[in-house]
Order: sequence, then C-alpha cells, then structure tokens
Amino acid sequence: MIGRLNHIGVATPSIEKSVAMYRDMLGATKVGEKFQMPEQGVWVCFVDLPNSQIELIEPIDDTSPIAGFLAKNPAGGQHHVCFEVPDIIAARDDMKAKGATVLGEPRIGAHGTPIIFVHPKNMGGVLVELMETPKGAHH
Ligand code: CO
Repeated sequence: MIGRLNHIGVATPSIEKSVAMYRDMLGATKVGEKFQMPEQGVWVCFVDLPNSQIELIEPIDDTSPIAGFLAKNPAGGQHHVCFEVPDIIAARDDMKAKGATVLGEPRIGAHGTPIIFVHPKNMGGVLVELMETPKGAHH
C-alpha cells in the first residue's frame, strides 16, 4: 500500500532562513509561497526537488505542536516523512488493525488531500505522515 515519497517534513525556526539555505547552499530553484495552516499551528513552505519536496514547517506561536520539537531541536531538524497512499481511510484502518497508533483523525493536509500521522514508536522512530495521492496526479 505504500506509495511515492511525497515529502520530507523539516521543522525550522525560520522558513526564510531555511529557504535561503536550500537556494544558496543546495541550488534549489523552485520554492513555493509560504502559507499558514492555522489548525496545525504552523507556517508551511514547499521546496520542490526533481523527485520530491521538502516541507518546511515553522510554528505560528509557542502553542504550536512544532514549538515543542524546536525547543528540543533549536536549529530545526527532520520532523516527519510523508508517503502517498491510494485511500486514507483504508490506510488508517490497516494501520490500526496492525496495532499502530494513529495520531488523530484523517484531516486535510498541506496538499489539500486527507492525511494521518502514525506514531514513531510503530515506525522505527520516524514520525510517518500518510497522505492520500492527489486525484489526477501523475507521477
Ligand atoms: Co508533511
């Protein structure tokens, strides 16, 4: 059921500084507009790579779920990986049936399709986001 690697989530104290790093250090040329996801408490900005994306996430304020991560990792760091799945409800039910802890109910993610998160304790220490493949996407 696991599909394409959609993106790597990277927490940062400053999207502007991270974007500059990806541009100046690594030569990234395609960077989206930064936008807010208030219900998640974060600013988000995508850096496009030839085969995937980096999702930069910055807390809106100290109450953001990402704020705790940055308190432990002040310079930022890798936060999650996101794989595409064909059907988010089937994926959630499958994860639960296999004994995994699914964090929250399916909700709309940064790409406008439903997502869930699976607890790192079930995923070899990696916080895993599962995202329904956008309809009409051709990879
Ligand atoms: Co993500």
